[in-house]
This record gives sequence, C-alpha cells and structure tokens, in this order.
Amino acid sequence: MSIEDLAQTAQALVAAGKGIIALDESPATLGKRFEAVGVANSGDNRRAWREVVLTTPGLGEYISGAILHEETLRQSSADGVSFAQVLAGAGILPGIKVDTGTHPLAGFPGETVTEGLDGLRGRLKEAYRLGARFAKWRAVIRIGEDTPSGTCIDANAHALARYAALCQEQGLVPIVEPEVLMDGDHDIESCYEVTEITLRGLFDALYNQQVMFEGTILKASMVLPGSDCAEQAEVDEVAEATLMCLRSAVPAILPGIVFLSGGQSDEDATAHLDAMNRLRPHPWPLSFSYGRAMQQAALKVWAGNPAGQAGKAQEILLGRARANSLAALGEWDGQG
Ligand code: 13P
Repeated sequence: MSIEDLAQTAQALVAAGKGIIALDESPATLGKRFEAVGVANSGDNRRAWREVVLTTPGLGEYISGAILHEETLRQSSADGVSFAQVLAGAGILPGIKVDTGTHPLAGFPGETVTEGLDGLRGRLKEAYRLGARFAKWRAVIRIGEDTPSGTCIDANAHALARYAALCQEQGLVPIVEPEVLMDGDHDIESCYEVTEITLRGLFDALYNQQVMFEGTILKASMVLPGSDCAEQAEVDEVAEATLMCLRSAVPAILPGIVFLSGGQSDEDATAHLDAMNRLRPHPWPLSFSYGRAMQQAALKVWAGNPAGQAGKAQEILLGRARANSLAALGEWDGQG
C-alpha cells in the first residue's frame, strides 16, 4: 500500500462536514450501556443494535467512517449482507478497533497500558480482507495526585506507535487515540499540561517508528476540567485551551484530528467542536469520532421497544450525525 493510498483514505475520513461514528464497544462495554437501559447483553441484541445504527438511512451524508468491534465486522444484517458491505453501500469506510484493552502497568499502581501487539500483523491482514480500511487503538491516561507517570506515557506512546506502523504496513490508516480521562477533580490547566505532554510523547514515538504522519489520524480528548472539578469551564474556554494544546503538540502535516466525547453530554460534545471550528483556520480539519455522544440518545429509545422503535432511534441518531457534521463546519444551529 502506498503512502498516497493511505493519505487518500485519511483525507476521506476527515472530508469537510464528515466525521466518524465509534461503535466498537467490546461486548462487555456494550453490555454496560445495555444494562443502563434495560437490554440483555446477548449476541443477538448486540447484532440487532449494530444493525439499527449501521442501516440508518442517509448516514453517509454526515459520516465518513464507522469503527467496528471485530465481532461486528464479522456479522451481517438480517438480510444476510455483511456489515462491511452495508457500510460500503452507504459510502462509509469500515474501520476496526484492534487493541485488546487496558491492563495494569506493572509497578505503577492505578495506571494502565493498552495491549494487543502480539499477533497484530495477522489480525490486521484479516481485517483488511474483511473490508476494514482504517483501525483504532486507544490508550488511557488518568490524571491523579501522582499520575500520569512518564513511564505510563512512554509505554502507551510506544505501543501506539508500534500499532500505527503495523497498520500502515498492512494498508490500514491508524487512528491513534491517547485518551486523557475526564474522571477526577483536576482543573483544566492540569488537563492541558497532561494532554500536551502525552501528545508530544506520542508524536516522538510515531516519528521513531517511522510512521507516516500523512497517513495517520489523531483521535484526541478535549482539554476539559475533570468531571468532579468544582470549577467547570465555558464552551469558549474549552475550545481555546484545546486548540492551543493541539497547535503546540501536533504536527501540521497530519491530515486531521477527530475528537472522542469521553463522557461529555451530547450537547457539550457538539458545542465544543462547533466552537473550535468557528475559530478556523486551523492546520488540520477538526471533526468527531464520537461513541456515546452519537449513540446514547438513540439507544435509549430503541431499548424501550427494540422491535418497534428502530425507525425512531435511527431518526435520533441521524439528528446527532447532522448536528456533529455542522459542528465540524463551525455551522451548528443548536438543533439535534
Ligand atoms: P466516546 O465518544 O463514547 O468517548 O467513545 C469514543 C471512543 O471510541 C473511545 O475509544
């Protein structure tokens, strides 16, 4: 796969007014989302929910790519069309989450490292065969009294860079996601500092592993006060802090940056993205790769009546996609 092909895929993922939907929750995580709305965590229910999302009429107008769990990449719609084909038919690129989750970092209580490098080359080859054209790996950085440690940042950056290099070798665009968690009572300045050092460490590691930035997408967390911080921030403050942090740590050659929602309300996730894009020009397109902020309202409606509420759930999902698409243009009208 040439760098031109990878760059083309990366650019398609961040095309103007388009963003990514993340529905790559592991069966256990989706089970937690289901439990909150009273749905049993069975394979049938997981497949049925994925079908509601992926067959939403008109989704391709706002969505460039969908990040799937491996389970979903191997599944099909009720009519027997593989989900990868369903997406291709809608003009949406299929992607796959390939990390195998976070594990305690030995010697560093409370910190984690994301695993999944063993056998990754073969898994990427297979994912490509099944139709995936991009991948995701999520590292988790937690802000605490004495965390994150430099060791945690380095270990996660190294794994992200090894993953990214393997993706490019196998023809998939890597989305690199170092999520600085919102959990905690830290202030926005601490989040800024930790995000900046995390991103600097990540781009150093990517450079050392000869990852081609032109064929890489960053999935970033926004610079926010912790969810338990007494002093919450205005929308413009979040937008300005996030932009300054990204400008200071992310190379301009990167084709684009997409954000995770990370536990923000649907409205905040959209408002923050919109505010950032109203401050354009920026070196890169800024768009979304939301999981909860795309799906949670629709899931709630579907859960009430899985057999009868698919259409209503899809309408709500499409409304969220439209709102976030407008925010990616800095033109959100406050609806959805
Ligand atoms: P949230 O938008 O729900 O944070 O999920 C995005 C994601 O894919 C995290 O890896």
